[in-house]
Amino acid sequence: MKFIVQGGLNRPGLQGSIRVPGDKSISHRSIMFGSLAEGTSHISGFLEGEDSLNTLRAFQQMGVHIEGPLNGEVTIEGVGMHGLKRPAHALDLGNSGTSMRLLSGLLAGQQFDVKLTGDASLSKRPMKRVTDPLSMMGAKVDAADGGKPPLKINGNQALTGIHYQMPMASAQVKSCCLLAGMYATGKTCVTEPAVTRDHTERMLTAFGCDVEVTDSTVCIDGPAKLIATDIDVPADISSAAFFMVGASIAADSDITLLHVGMNPTRTGVIEILQLMGAHISLSNEKEVGGEPVADIRVQSADLKGINIPESLVPLAIDEFPVLFVAAACAQGQTVVTGAEELRVKESDRIQVMADGLQVLGVNAQATDDGMIIQGGDIGSGTVYSHDDHRIAMAFAMAGLCTSGDIHIEDCETVNTSFPGFAELVASCGLSIKVVDE
Ligand code: S3P
Repeated sequence: MKFIVQGGLNRPGLQGSIRVPGDKSISHRSIMFGSLAEGTSHISGFLEGEDSLNTLRAFQQMGVHIEGPLNGEVTIEGVGMHGLKRPAHALDLGNSGTSMRLLSGLLAGQQFDVKLTGDASLSKRPMKRVTDPLSMMGAKVDAADGGKPPLKINGNQALTGIHYQMPMASAQVKSCCLLAGMYATGKTCVTEPAVTRDHTERMLTAFGCDVEVTDSTVCIDGPAKLIATDIDVPADISSAAFFMVGASIAADSDITLLHVGMNPTRTGVIEILQLMGAHISLSNEKEVGGEPVADIRVQSADLKGINIPESLVPLAIDEFPVLFVAAACAQGQTVVTGAEELRVKESDRIQVMADGLQVLGVNAQATDDGMIIQGGDIGSGTVYSHDDHRIAMAFAMAGLCTSGDIHIEDCETVNTSFPGFAELVASCGLSIKVVDE
């Protein structure tokens, strides 16, 4: 599948009032915790994207009765902490790093062996970051060469709590340790080098499990128990980010993004865009199920280049592809540092974005841990998403400030996080054609 986005600097920008699909991180966790809980949990606003559906199917294959999703509604009959059954086959987690890393922790505590596989992109992603702390806890997890998937998780191991100093800022690694910690004897603590998303901590608390947070350390006491609850999944700020950038860079835009998750560990994109001069305002701020939400209004702005503060990087880690596009359309230079984690996402997001921006005539220089971008005009051309959903959607938004057309190859994976993206952005005013190849 390919996107063709029609350029043209004078078209009206993005308009409307829309709700983007549910938060991916929260959707994954709602299935995991609902499955392990005692009782029935109802989920609304669930992301019906391939990644969270892979998590859902994995639990069905481990014997959990899950109904839906239907219009974002899911009902899970929890089986309790020890009710999962050995799946008949390997669990195929597709493109989803979150599924593989969180499940490896959760499955390390089971009484059965299980194999986790993924697609070509996931099979290249580093798993040593989770197998290292898990083996310190007493788990037995075998990876393929270079610590890559597939992973074979050997059950029946006695896990013991550890205090893990996490070497990188990763919510997936932190969550993996906490999920294994639910099955361990004693306390499991993780200290993070920078703040990362805390959905696991918040949702475990909502499921009645005590999580202790002090400064940069989070601890859980094992063995843990979860009690079913209902979860309202807010719209994903990472999906809303494409529209925030699109509306900022296109003239005459005025868009409102409804019921978006505003967890402070995720709002770096708003802070960064505001530092660049974006016009963003919030309304209807409230809390649902332990997560803050708000409506976000974004109007066109003359963005300027900035040095992005490193402290904001982990709080906007998934938004960099589209932030690079914002920088390319801004006046002046933008410098990103401290973002080396971008190299191990669904693609090497530093290299792939720098290559694509250069094709479009932008002066974008990849560095080891970020990028230096001279803002100005974006031209036309053909770019490759490298099967990375966020790269495809970021370049689609670039079409709002180009003079010519942009062809974006390999866009199927957009369905992993944002089913219906092309239709929704077209309804707001972007001229985008989807071509099946
Ligand atoms: C996620 C954590 C982040 C993020 C990913 C989702 C999560 O990954 O990039 O899309 O749900 O915990 P890292 O933990 O590798 O930074």
